[in-house]
Amino acid sequence: MLRGRKVVLGVGGSVAAYKSAALARELVRRGCAVRTMLTAAAQHFVTPALFAALTGEAAATALFPVRQGDATPPPTDHVAWAAWAEAAVIAPATADLLGRMAGGLADDLLTTWLLAFPGPVVAAPAMNRHMWSHPAVQRNVARLRADGVRVLQPGFGALAAGEGEGWGRLPDAADVVSALEDVFAAGPPRPRPELPPPCPPLLRERAVVVTAGPTREPIDPVRFISNPSSGRMGYAFAEAARDMGGRVLLVSGPVALPPPAGVDVVSVTTALQMRDAVLAAAPTADLVVFAAAVADSRPAEPSATKLKKGQALEGTLSLVRNPDISAEVGAMGGRRVLVGFAAEAGAGVEEAERKLRAKGLQLVAFNDVREAGAGFGAETNRVVLVDRDGGREEIGPASKRAVAERILARAATLLP
Ligand code: PMT
Repeated sequence: MLRGRKVVLGVGGSVAAYKSAALARELVRRGCAVRTMLTAAAQHFVTPALFAALTGEAAATALFPVRQGDATPPPTDHVAWAAWAEAAVIAPATADLLGRMAGGLADDLLTTWLLAFPGPVVAAPAMNRHMWSHPAVQRNVARLRADGVRVLQPGFGALAAGEGEGWGRLPDAADVVSALEDVFAAGPPRPRPELPPPCPPLLRERAVVVTAGPTREPIDPVRFISNPSSGRMGYAFAEAARDMGGRVLLVSGPVALPPPAGVDVVSVTTALQMRDAVLAAAPTADLVVFAAAVADSRPAEPSATKLKKGQALEGTLSLVRNPDISAEVGAMGGRRVLVGFAAEAGAGVEEAERKLRAKGLQLVAFNDVREAGAGFGAETNRVVLVDRDGGREEIGPASKRAVAERILARAATLLP
């Protein structure tokens, strides 16, 4: 499994570094080509010469090695090493090294190389047991695991410096080798997604309000009227508007999405609460996007106690109409640009044009919520964007983020 594989062994500064020499020998014995990188701290415990002798390859220690006598060794080409390697093993992975890796730092050769290396990484921690159980170390480990690094569980047993027994010993070489075999058995790693091109700053310093998600209209303490909106469309608008330079307020109904960074979020439950939040922010807004699926009506008299079967639920639930938030903002007048949605299931694009006029909006995105890959809950959407001049622009199918970017780019052209 490991024969012919090219592995970079990163050695951190721990007394357990002497065991990584045995690991290097074991990898070579199994047919791996091994190149070693030692951190500055590792060299207090082991030497580059030791690993060069064990692996038959020169060990690297610094991006810019210091001058030795009259000669200055050439810098280590971390990009070439990244192209050469198929996997990385970090052993011992100290608390400091794990922290720098989790933080994406590039303050020495090993961490710089790790950022340039797109392949799989196995990290074998070794440290004092109190350091291993420290919340900051555990946070870094969780971060690295979420990033795809295979952080092994340290071994249990006698620790250095009279620490007694505990979790913190460098995992056995056999466990590290078997993790490496798993990594190769899993096949090539998925390529990292290409980053989207940066958004043009079309909304620089503009105040943008976005509504997102469903509203919930209580019937009693355990029941409500709602709809399947996930909030994805509205959150995509909030993030795209932020990336275009806008100051964004997101008024969100109950959704399972994390609040976007760099966006002010007001969480609401009912249509009346959403209305209050939007009407408070709209007067100073340059652009308002109504992506929320607001419940059109609500129970006239929600019960304060749980209704019994048959009580007011079957046939007799009386509803009252919720205010139309977008129409109320449309009636405010002013020069702000208002973008609405029309969630239709049977009606044509004409219905979006009717809503545009009835609500006083500048743009309305028609989406057919019966279509696969569009509307409620989907990651993607397909819309027809209608404007006041009768123009119709087809957008998508595309990610909700891409749809939001295109609609915001159109809305930006209408800003005074
Ligand atoms: O949240 P996702 O799962 O990503 O799904 C996205 C979506 C389908 C919810 C979204 O693309 C969408 O279509 N949002 C609008 C849903 C809707 O309520 O459409 P409508 O045709 O009923 O309303 C027309 C417009 O008036 C909408 O902009 C709506 O936000 C607004 N409105 C409606 C009722 C109301 N009381 N107040 C409003 O502001």
